[in-house]
Amino acid sequence: MNDHATFNALVVRELDGGFQRAVEERRLADLPPGEVLIRVHYSSLNYKDALSASGNRGVTKKYPHTPGIDAAGIVAASSVPQFSAGDEVLCMCYDLGMNTPGGFGEYICVPASWVLAKPEPLSLLETMQIGTAGFTAAQCVDKLLAFGLRPEQGPVLVTGATGGVGSLACALLAKLGFAVTTVTGKESEHEFLRQLGCAAVLNRQQAIGRASAALLRERWAGVVDTVGGEILAGAIKATQYNGIVTCCGNAASGELPLTVYPFILRGVSLVGIDSAECPLVRRKEVWDKLAGPWQSLLQDALNALSVRISLAQLSQTIDEMLAGRTRGRIIVDLTGETE
Ligand SMILES: NC(=O)c1ccc[n+]([C@@H]2O[C@H](COP(=O)([O-])OP(=O)(O)OC[C@H]3O[C@@H](n4cnc5c(N)ncnc54)[C@H](OP(=O)(O)O)[C@@H]3O)[C@@H](O)[C@H]2O)c1
Repeated sequence: MNDHATFNALVVRELDGGFQRAVEERRLADLPPGEVLIRVHYSSLNYKDALSASGNRGVTKKYPHTPGIDAAGIVAASSVPQFSAGDEVLCMCYDLGMNTPGGFGEYICVPASWVLAKPEPLSLLETMQIGTAGFTAAQCVDKLLAFGLRPEQGPVLVTGATGGVGSLACALLAKLGFAVTTVTGKESEHEFLRQLGCAAVLNRQQAIGRASAALLRERWAGVVDTVGGEILAGAIKATQYNGIVTCCGNAASGELPLTVYPFILRGVSLVGIDSAECPLVRRKEVWDKLAGPWQSLLQDALNALSVRISLAQLSQTIDEMLAGRTRGRIIVDLTGETE
């Protein structure tokens, strides 16, 4: 393809000590060299993108920059035999959208080792309804199941429940037969959570419980935490003997105010979840579940919990996510069909 060809992308620029975002025309020559050039059809908005788009140096060091840790699209050109023009593919995480121009542009150029063939029978749109958030939720649920957790052992708790990771974890766990209790700060979304199959809803303070206590009444057989801080601490303190807690996020805090007692008196297991550097083999394993046995379980929920926006609507939606006002999954449509 002609290097002078242009495409649209959301560009974040550092200006007078602040950060500004605008949809700009870029040239293919502006992209870094890479083995696979992809025409992005859909991306999705994850919390990490909102951080990158607002100048968070922990995520993105250099600006101007195009965020977007998720991309699904069609190969436009490839210099490696594994991929050919016309292939439907996904590219998620690694450095995409962090310090490599990401999925909030109509084209990305990446190493072949970051690219995954689209798992059948999912459509490109469905892969982005799942995206990094859904993939992370799936990793959390998979860990609970691999640990041996079964619905009859008791309720599971999901925190940050209306968020991308939280809402998908709620939907999947409910469909797998677990009694799901959720934690949300949004009173207006209790009905939404019940529609996803959740049995009970707590506010954040109820989830924290007595902050000074080393242990709380044993309640949760398992936990999917997406927020960290006092809510994660409260969840661990209220986890049953030999229960399991997965920890993937820090939407509330990166701190964990806790003693060792839940671990040494109740045998609670705390399991970390990472999707960014998750090896391709594990990535494929989880996608095989999402495209296989879990696909029918998630289909209705994916439609109920996702909205589609255009590139032009993205900047405002990023502000809403940073203010904690979004819910579910936000799909960025780069096909031009959502204007
Ligand atoms: N480890 C990994 O590889 C990985 C992958 C993906 C995501 N993550 C992390 O997982 C977290 C969730 O990601 P996401 O994409 O689902 O984000 P999101 O859609 O913005 O959801 C985050 C949710 O957390 C809750 N929340 C926000 N601020 C809070 C606060 N101050 N106190 C308590 N709860 C708060 C809100 O839910 P309610 O209003 O319902 O309470 C919000 O909807 C983020 O920290 C993200 O960085 C990690």
